[in-house]
Amino acid sequence: MKTQVGIIGAGPAGLLVARILQLNGIDSVILERRTRAYVLERVRAGVLESGTVDTLRTYGMGERLNREGIPMRSMQLCWDRQKADISLDDGTGRHLTTYGQQKIVEDLILQREADGLPIVFEADVSRLDGIEDAPRIHYRHNGEDKVLECQFIAGCDGYHGVSRRHIPGSDEHVFLTEYPFAWLGILAEAAPLAARRGFAHSTRGLAVASARSASVGRLYLQVEPDADPNAMSDQQIWDELDIRMDDGTAAQLNRGPIIERSVARLRGYVCEKMRHGRLAIAGDAAHIVPPSGGKGLNLAVGDARIMAEAIRRLLTTNDTTLLDSYSEMCLRRIWPTVHWACSMCEALHIFPGQTSFQTRMQYQTLNHWGNTEIGQQRLRKAQLGLPYEI
Ligand code: APR
Repeated sequence: MKTQVGIIGAGPAGLLVARILQLNGIDSVILERRTRAYVLERVRAGVLESGTVDTLRTYGMGERLNREGIPMRSMQLCWDRQKADISLDDGTGRHLTTYGQQKIVEDLILQREADGLPIVFEADVSRLDGIEDAPRIHYRHNGEDKVLECQFIAGCDGYHGVSRRHIPGSDEHVFLTEYPFAWLGILAEAAPLAARRGFAHSTRGLAVASARSASVGRLYLQVEPDADPNAMSDQQIWDELDIRMDDGTAAQLNRGPIIERSVARLRGYVCEKMRHGRLAIAGDAAHIVPPSGGKGLNLAVGDARIMAEAIRRLLTTNDTTLLDSYSEMCLRRIWPTVHWACSMCEALHIFPGQTSFQTRMQYQTLNHWGNTEIGQQRLRKAQLGLPYEI
């Protein structure tokens, strides 16, 4: 099989690169290891920066988002039995939007299918070659070994994908921190309450309450790194969430059936070498942020915009200038965002062996973000996200 751009991975990064290329008249084939049903059902992030919303609208993916996205104009931090409700209004009209990544992925897949464009599910990519001049993607599909020949490879295959290791010397450009805890994430059929939302620091560990829709809540508890997602009963989870989210009032979370549970390790990871020859990587293939801050999806969208434009210039006018500065341009958004997500992570979790002095230091950080003008500005700026250069 032949195409102009071979895209590995049908996550938000790969699907968005494909969509932008399509609207610029460039053909692509997406190869995705998982089944269609798995990709459509996978529950992930759900907080969109306004830049992400604008990007999706620009590329014709705003219809359901405009209808179902829930504006989020403030953010709550809770610690030491107190709460701060920080306005995200920076005078520009920007705000965050609650809209599950799952829906973005579904919108993009359904649109691509309606346009009659190829996504090959259950296509497991094993290796790449010719990335200097004539790229080839080797994959297995329906029990057969196949090859996709293309002019450029977009490696959008997530943290465990194969693309990154085909960038020569990429290991030497990797920066990693692993946190000694994980998040137990639940989806619950329980209408989220505006008064019981946000991030909570508790001496028992972090808790987070957020909305996925008007009737479905997405909530998290800090747990041990290797915790069993089924170790706690529904009632134990709700009790623990209420204890950790205590803000000094008697308010409690709305409870309801838990319909999904998963445990995810927290890490910060950046591969600074994001391109070699006719291969570039985007999204989780290049970086992972701890979920505190809700930045992973937004970073993937930022990379996808630059990658698609760099590929367009290469394939239409043979101009490699943007491609040559792809890593640097992406990293100007990635590092400050990773820094913010890690700062949130370090202020909100209880670390093994943490002293009460260290807990008091965390309270000071939270008080700074929650109750001082300069701290609120910092939080607002970081949460709303950095501007795009492209
Ligand atoms: N062959 C084909 N497909 C692969 C391979 C492979 N060898 N390896 C991985 N994939 C696929 C995965 O199955 C997955 O569907 O690549 C896709 C990568 O998608 P995501 O993990 O969603 O990554 P990305 O598109 O970068 O989106 C980043 O995902 O993890 C969240 O919070 C993160 O919201 C952020 C977003």
